[in-house]
Amino acid sequence: MPRRFTYKHLLFLVLLLLAACASLASVMRASAQSATPEPGEASERLLQGAQLYAENCAVCHGAEGQGRVGATLAKDWPSIRPDLTVRTIIANGVQGSPMPAWSQANGGPLTESEIEALVEYILSWQTGGAPRYTPAATATLRPPFTPPPNVEGDPNRGATLFDQNCAVCHGANGEGRIGATLAKAWPSIRPDLSVKATISNGVKGSPMPAWSQANGGPLTEQEINDLTAFILVLGETQPVEQVLPPTGEVPRAAENSPLRGWAGVALFLALIAVILFAAYWFQRRDNKP
Ligand code: HEC
Ligand code: HEC
Repeated sequence: MPRRFTYKHLLFLVLLLLAACASLASVMRASAQSATPEPGEASERLLQGAQLYAENCAVCHGAEGQGRVGATLAKDWPSIRPDLTVRTIIANGVQGSPMPAWSQANGGPLTESEIEALVEYILSWQTGGAPRYTPAATATLRPPFTPPPNVEGDPNRGATLFDQNCAVCHGANGEGRIGATLAKAWPSIRPDLSVKATISNGVKGSPMPAWSQANGGPLTEQEINDLTAFILVLGETQPVEQVLPPTGEVPRAAENSPLRGWAGVALFLALIAVILFAAYWFQRRDNKP
């Protein structure tokens, strides 16, 4: 008597079919996510570029690339390969100007792919470039400070100014990054005067810009006093955590899914092939005498 096509065989085929559908669904979800990133139309890389820009460059080049201590970046680049021009400048910096070198190869903090994202973001400002997206600046939560004695400024206002202008180089807690460590004891008799002078005048031949309006910088006398007060209390306070704003967070699940793109499609096709083969095989066994 020939072996029948039993429920066991049927169950096996159904399970295979379910697995195939699950893999296809995962592929479709992954590609749907990468096709419609949040927010708006901006691609994920553009978002990363915007975030990096807000954290590292806006301080000098302005939140919208309009220029500040640094050059205007929201413009058309008169080059056949503007991406190469912009990438080289970011990676190597501009010697003899406050523009630091950002690539890790040059001792900077950014990876190749982070610089790529920045290039894409900056070029999106060209006429006809990609849609724009500017995230909120990073804020650092701090307890309220008591103003140090004999200092004019308010360290609490100074803290906000520091986040906006200085943390990019000196670290969120003044721990030092491209710029010197500021969370330390100041050995001078009137540290307020020396710190204020450095902020106002900058340090010639280093990336430290001059910040006072008298020196062509963006900050008022009062703002520099506030910053001075903040830096003097920095050395005495505990480090605090940096809090990223919820905007600019991008779901990364799609990128990490192993079934994304062609791998998922290939798996789906392979499972279908297995199902067809199994059906054929059972069929043959059923027909055997
Ligand atoms: C401390 C201030 C400062 C920071 C921070 C800074 N830049 Fe600059 N940047 C400058 C200055 C100043 C120039 C103009 C240099 C020159 O040509 O004299 C410049 C020039 C540039 C240029 C070339 C502009 C042109 O028209 O040729 C690019 C591109 C650029 N910066 C990108 C960036 C990016 C991206 C970041 C963040 C990763 C950044 N910069 C951070 C100060 C800064
Ligand atoms: C583009 C990077 C950059 C930015 C932005 C920047 N600094 Fe600096 N800063 C430096 C560097 C680099 C030094 C060290 C200069 C040197 O002595 O060679 C420095 C030095 C200093 C010093 C002197 C440190 C010492 O030990 O004597 C003070 C104070 C200071 N910065 C305050 C500020 C304040 C306040 C701001 C924001 C308004 C600011 N910096 C923004 C790069 C930067």
